Amino acid sequence: MFNWSVDGADRVIPFAFAVRCELVHGPLAWGGKKRRDSIMQKRKIGKNIYWIGAVDWDRRLFDSLIPLPDGTTYNAYLVQGSEKTALLDTVDPPMADVLMAQLARVNKIDFIVSHHAEQDHSGALPHVLERFPEAKVVVTPKAKGMLIDLLKIPENAFVTVEDGERLSLGDKTLRFIHTPWVHWPETMVTYLEEDRILFSCDFYGSHIATSDLFVTDQGRVYEASKRYFAEIMMPFRNVITKNIDKLKEVDIQMIAPSHGQIYDRPSWIMDAYRDWVMGKPHNLVVLPYVSMHGSTRRLVDRLVSSLVERGVRVELFNLAVTDIGKLAMALVDAATVVVGVPTVLAGPHPLAAYATFLANALRPKARFLSIIGSYGWGGKTVETLAGMIPNLKVEVLEPVLCRGVPSKTDFEALDKLADMIVQKHKEQGFQ
Ligand code: FEO
Repeated sequence: MFNWSVDGADRVIPFAFAVRCELVHGPLAWGGKKRRDSIMQKRKIGKNIYWIGAVDWDRRLFDSLIPLPDGTTYNAYLVQGSEKTALLDTVDPPMADVLMAQLARVNKIDFIVSHHAEQDHSGALPHVLERFPEAKVVVTPKAKGMLIDLLKIPENAFVTVEDGERLSLGDKTLRFIHTPWVHWPETMVTYLEEDRILFSCDFYGSHIATSDLFVTDQGRVYEASKRYFAEIMMPFRNVITKNIDKLKEVDIQMIAPSHGQIYDRPSWIMDAYRDWVMGKPHNLVVLPYVSMHGSTRRLVDRLVSSLVERGVRVELFNLAVTDIGKLAMALVDAATVVVGVPTVLAGPHPLAAYATFLANALRPKARFLSIIGSYGWGGKTVETLAGMIPNLKVEVLEPVLCRGVPSKTDFEALDKLADMIVQKHKEQGFQ
């Protein structure tokens, strides 16, 4: 155990947490003056409303799966009413020291609103509760059980709120809006009525580490938000449609998410979400492929050429080197997916199987799918991949498989596939 100090009071922290702080952030003392003096302090976003949280410049992978080329932030917010103070969300556990240093000069927190039980927002709750033991954790009923499971928070620390319930902080009012499945079942958002700010947690978020509090480069944030939507929100498009409809009634002047920058002019990101969730697929083929000796690549090149000649846009991803986040992002708009895959060990190349598994899990709105590839002597590549896409509501177009290197007949079959794709896109009005 280590002794540490916040606001002059001696406290004790567990050895394991002290070691983690030491390993992740260097010299210990997350409540101490040394650490506190080097940490970005709270930043004002409105009257008595502050961003606090951590910028994770170095993180490059989330969930041991999702690439973070630009790092991320874990945004928490402090709302100080005339009578009560609320902390909205916390930060990822390895950055708890940053949050605690920012809270070192805060005397009282009455409520900790936990919008989402995932640890990048809830993980520092035990540390905040240790410092503010009287604070109540405000959650949806479903989040309560999840936080008990994940963080072992005692049951008596919680206050559950129903959809639409309000909490007065004096001159500021928090309204809780249940928004399930953005992107876990327990998620909710908070609307600060007097200031017309929506605290949306993951909803509308983006993974960008930046010192800019508000959106400064809309193009960059559009791309990061779309990537974020594709990776974690897209599987829940149907229920997100309901949540977007629900928020139509709310006068939102600012959206403060828990990752990335704050939207001080939020209409464009709300329009973008509407398009990603409900818009028609585009006249676009996404073509993830892998090639071992060049034959599948020749098929891919021919199909790309045929499609482009016929006015269809194509996005190509070599699965041996691609960033899967970019592939996910392309799937948001694609009308057709074509997987380019050689046969290996009697089945699909594992990289193509991985991409197909991900596409099935992400449930994009694509309507058509085909498979092209080369094999040596046989196998069950098409059957195996076709059995991996039960979630996709797609029509499977005639695959083109060739033995060895492609022949003239194989190229003609690819031209026919391109013709079929053009016809299907036209029939559906995809532009
Ligand atoms: Fe940013 Fe679902 O956590």
